[in-house]
Amino acid sequence: MTAPRSSGPALAVVGATGAVGTVLLQILSQRADVWGDIRLIASARSAGRVLAVRAEATEVLALTEDAFHGLGPGDVVVFLTPAAVSARWAPVVTARGAVVVDQSAAFRADPEVPLVVPEVNAHAVRIRPRGIVAGPDCVTAAMSAALGALHAEYGLTELAVSSYQAAGAAGRAGSEALRRQLSLVAGTSLGEHPGDVRRAVGEDTGPFAAPLALNVVPWSGELCEGGWSSHELAVRAETRRILDLERLPVSVTCVQVPVVTGHSLTVRARFENPVDAAHARKILEAAPGVVLVDDPAAGEFPTPADAAGTDPAWAGRVRVSLDDPRALEFFVCADNLRKGAALNATQIAELIAGEFAYFAL
Ligand SMILES: NC(=O)c1ccc[n+]([C@@H]2O[C@H](COP(=O)([O-])OP(=O)(O)OC[C@H]3O[C@@H](n4cnc5c(N)ncnc54)[C@H](OP(=O)(O)O)[C@@H]3O)[C@@H](O)[C@H]2O)c1
Repeated sequence: MTAPRSSGPALAVVGATGAVGTVLLQILSQRADVWGDIRLIASARSAGRVLAVRAEATEVLALTEDAFHGLGPGDVVVFLTPAAVSARWAPVVTARGAVVVDQSAAFRADPEVPLVVPEVNAHAVRIRPRGIVAGPDCVTAAMSAALGALHAEYGLTELAVSSYQAAGAAGRAGSEALRRQLSLVAGTSLGEHPGDVRRAVGEDTGPFAAPLALNVVPWSGELCEGGWSSHELAVRAETRRILDLERLPVSVTCVQVPVVTGHSLTVRARFENPVDAAHARKILEAAPGVVLVDDPAAGEFPTPADAAGTDPAWAGRVRVSLDDPRALEFFVCADNLRKGAALNATQIAELIAGEFAYFAL
């Protein structure tokens, strides 16, 4: 633990050693420092490791009751852990009066837990009967700011989305599996035999349903009724919650692609009235958390390689649908570790810290 600082609420980061946790520690060093003590927590495997946060060497604590000692009202605990860990430990934190910000799927469907993307529904943070605020899945998060801005102007009536998901969304295990598979296929006579990729990768495809190197995999999550995947249903439900459109028709296809970091989505959004592409571009340009990159004639459009390592969602390829003047089609990319997880969680935590600062005046 760092030496106690005199002012500001305490922040605890559970899952500080993971893919999202590592990025969150970097983000904390880059943003205005609103925090007093920062404590880092992970599994017993990581206890005693020393990580840098705000340029201070900070020892990682094992996740036990003791790790939360001294935390109370006004303090914030961010969970960047598997859902089962968040579900088990969040109530331990809220019993102390501290607020939980959870980035796992544990509470995203709980009607008593607000699901928040600050650019769209920051107000929802304040109503949290369980003392928990959730951040959305990284696919939902990638499109939320752009979609929220367009909805505010035009009124969204229907949504169809396909994701092109990075391997890193499956944590360290996902990016390590892709790197391993890429090194295995690199030595083969690629392209000469259609079966090369499967043969080179073998049976161990990591967290993916098929080899991901030099491939695309139209599957993410568990099988649900009607052939939908749990991930597709989650993106649908979360988008409805964040936009406060309970009955919005939403169709989602989730696809894994061999990208390490950076989700991409094709979005078809239908609105109440006819839309104009130039006006829609202006809305996206002005939208908080969105950068418009839309000049195909100059070869300028968003790609995950450009979005990775950056905060905003990058939007481009804005077109009015050929057969429907009320529908817009666009492409959006965002860093799944930043806007998709660590940045969104940090923004929520800062909103909560701000509330307590206001009451302390
Ligand atoms: N990766 C993304 O793009 C992304 C995006 C949105 C949401 N999320 C969600 O964010 C959460 C973290 O994802 P991640 O990608 O960072 O996963 P990860 O790389 O696998 O890291 C998991 C973290 O949780 C800790 N942990 C695991 N089991 C634990 C236990 N029993 N007790 C205490 N700590 C435990 C790990 O600690 P050790 O290092 O000690 O094992 C590590 O710090 C997940 O719920 C994920 O679904 C991820």
